Amino acid sequence: MEKKIVVSGMRPTGRIHLGNYWGALKNYIKLQDEYECYFFVADWHALTTASERAPLRENSLLMVADWLSAGLDPNKCTIFRQSDVRYHAELALMLGMITPISWLFRNPTFKEVLVEIYRQKYKGQEDKMKKSEGAMDAMASSHGFSDEENMALNSELSNYGFLGYPVLQAADILLYGASYVPIGKDQLPHLEMTREIARRFNHIYKTKVFTEPQPLFTSAAVLPGIDKRKMSKSYGNTVELSDYGSALEAKIKKMFTDPQKLRANDKGNPDGCVVFAFHKLYNPNSALRERECRDGAIGCGACKKHLYELINPEMEKMAANREKYSGKLELVEEILQEGAKKACARAALTMEKVAREAKLI
Ligand code: TRP
Repeated sequence: MEKKIVVSGMRPTGRIHLGNYWGALKNYIKLQDEYECYFFVADWHALTTASERAPLRENSLLMVADWLSAGLDPNKCTIFRQSDVRYHAELALMLGMITPISWLFRNPTFKEVLVEIYRQKYKGQEDKMKKSEGAMDAMASSHGFSDEENMALNSELSNYGFLGYPVLQAADILLYGASYVPIGKDQLPHLEMTREIARRFNHIYKTKVFTEPQPLFTSAAVLPGIDKRKMSKSYGNTVELSDYGSALEAKIKKMFTDPQKLRANDKGNPDGCVVFAFHKLYNPNSALRERECRDGAIGCGACKKHLYELINPEMEKMAANREKYSGKLELVEEILQEGAKKACARAALTMEKVAREAKLI
């Protein structure tokens, strides 16, 4: 029987962190053995939100070096860069023809991210945040935007590419006929839109060219950063996949623990403790650790040291794998070029069918 197809992408943020690893990459590595997998660097998507100065090419290569060192294998799956497979742009354009603008304005991620970027950009400049006169006002209000959302929408930050983010993502997925898309829960609205776009295209052209994909969630809970907020580059609270030895040890030492537990034999509460959140993933006997903490049978120092011993061997192994690419990112580039060839061959088949349906050919 033919293997089902899996597609997923990550925006190139450079070196990835353990949140990305547990949230997506670990799943990719497992899936490559079971499915026909396409994993790509969503560099065009990064352009919709990244600052103009982000070194996307270098960040892409560093991210893929991390993928490879963690065990993603170009002999088992197709690894490529979105912008090397121009069909993504071509299909996004075609899908744009049948995607109602109202769907895009309704997209919750669009609103949230736009407001977040807007807040960061105008932090401390409340005078600039006054409501502008914008041509978008009427349209936005008819979609139930709050005042702040409306202001963000009218700022120079909102552009066509960003509004069309989910259309490009739909193209990424539908090009390969994916049955499954491994994603975090935050991406669910985007996947739902992909399904709606697929359905609408099939309906309008009375065809079955597109498969409606299903999400595949990772079982892991969201991993907190060392300060207990969500792990994120922008908070500076990450443990990088490339941290090991003393760098790793230093980060574990800084991890937030129960502030009431001052002495080793004080009774602790592991619920909000970052170290314990990591134990749950790395320690096969985390239930015992939970009891020890609650009973005051272990101190935070010893618990952190133990965590380091649990994590470091895997991290050292990955560091050794990464050695191969250090200072030789052209090796990663070669892998991406090979991957792009394979992805192009598959994508061309879909694109031809789409052009045929639209009577372009
Ligand atoms: N939007 C995704 C994110 O921010 C990245 C992405 C782009 C993606 N295209 C995709 C994920 C296709 C899955 C499938 O994480």
